Amino acid sequence: MRRRVTKAIFPVAGLGTRFLPATKSVPKEIMTLVDRPLVQYAIDEARAAGIREFIFITSRGKGALEDYFDNAPQLEAELRRKGKDDLLELLRSTNMDSGEIAYMRQHRPLGLGHAVWCARRLIGNEPFAVILPDDVIAADTPCLQQMVEAFEEVGGNMVAAMEVPPAMTSAYGILDVKDDMGRMVSTRGLVEKPAPDSAPSNLAVIGRYILTPTVLQKLNRKQAGAGGEIQLTDAIDAAREDGEEVYGFRFRGQRFDCGSKAGFLQATVAFALARDDLRDELWSYITDMVNADKAAQ
Ligand code: G1P
Repeated sequence: MRRRVTKAIFPVAGLGTRFLPATKSVPKEIMTLVDRPLVQYAIDEARAAGIREFIFITSRGKGALEDYFDNAPQLEAELRRKGKDDLLELLRSTNMDSGEIAYMRQHRPLGLGHAVWCARRLIGNEPFAVILPDDVIAADTPCLQQMVEAFEEVGGNMVAAMEVPPAMTSAYGILDVKDDMGRMVSTRGLVEKPAPDSAPSNLAVIGRYILTPTVLQKLNRKQAGAGGEIQLTDAIDAAREDGEEVYGFRFRGQRFDCGSKAGFLQATVAFALARDDLRDELWSYITDMVNADKAAQ
C-alpha cells in the first residue's frame, strides 16, 4: 500500500516586499482575506486532505505567525464570560494541538528549494506535501484533497497545474508534457521560469505539491538555478531524471495569486461575495460603482 501523506511544509520565510509598508511589521501570511489570515486557508486545505503535521519554514520577523496558532486563554476566558459562544467556537477552530505544528528557520533566503530542504529531518523517508500559501484556491473539494486522491492511485510526484497565458511563463515553473490524459499529464521535464519563446508549454506549476523523499535528496546538492536561487522545480526534475514519475494535476477550482496586490484584492472580493453576511452589501456597492462609472462615460 502507498504511504499516506500526513506531513505538509508551508514555506513562509519570504519578506513580502510587494506588500510594503504593511509587511514591515505584519508577516504577509497573517494579512487577511476578509477576516481570516491567508495562512488559515492553507491550513484548512491541508487538514481536509488528511495532513496531521504542519511544518512552517519561517524567518526573522515572523513571530506573529507563531502567536496566531497558539491558544489565546485570556481572550477565550473573556469570550466565555460574555457568553459569545460562536466566537469562542471560531477561535477554537483555529487552535493547533500541541506537537502538531513545527517551526523551522530558514537562516538565509536561498530559494524555495532551500526552504523545503530545511524540513528534511522532520520529513524523513515518506511522501510529503508542500503548500505555498500565496496561491489561494477556492474549490468545492479542496485542491490538496483532490491531489491526494489522485496520488493514492498513481503515486510518483505530483504538482498542481494550470494553463497560464503564454506571455506569463517566466513567472512559473513550466511542465514539458509527455502524455496528456486530461485531468493529469505525465511529464518529460520541468523548467523554472522559462522565457515565453523557450517555454515547453504554458502549463504552469501552482503552489501545491506531493513529493517523494528523493526530491529532498536532490536538494542536498544545493545547486542554484533560475534567479540564482535553489529551486524546488529543479529538484523535482532531477528526481524525474532518476526515473520517478512527475505528474501535473489540473485541479478543479479557482486560483488566486495572493502574492500580487491585484490577486489579493480579487480573492478578497470573491471570498466576501461568497459570504452570506457580506454578499448583499458588497454587491450593491460594486454595482453602484459600476453604474456610476458607466454613467460618467
Ligand atoms: C514558485 C515556484 C514556481 C511556481 C510558483 C507558483 O515561484 O518556484 O515554480 O510556479 O511558485 O506560484 P514564486 O511565485 O515563488 O516565484
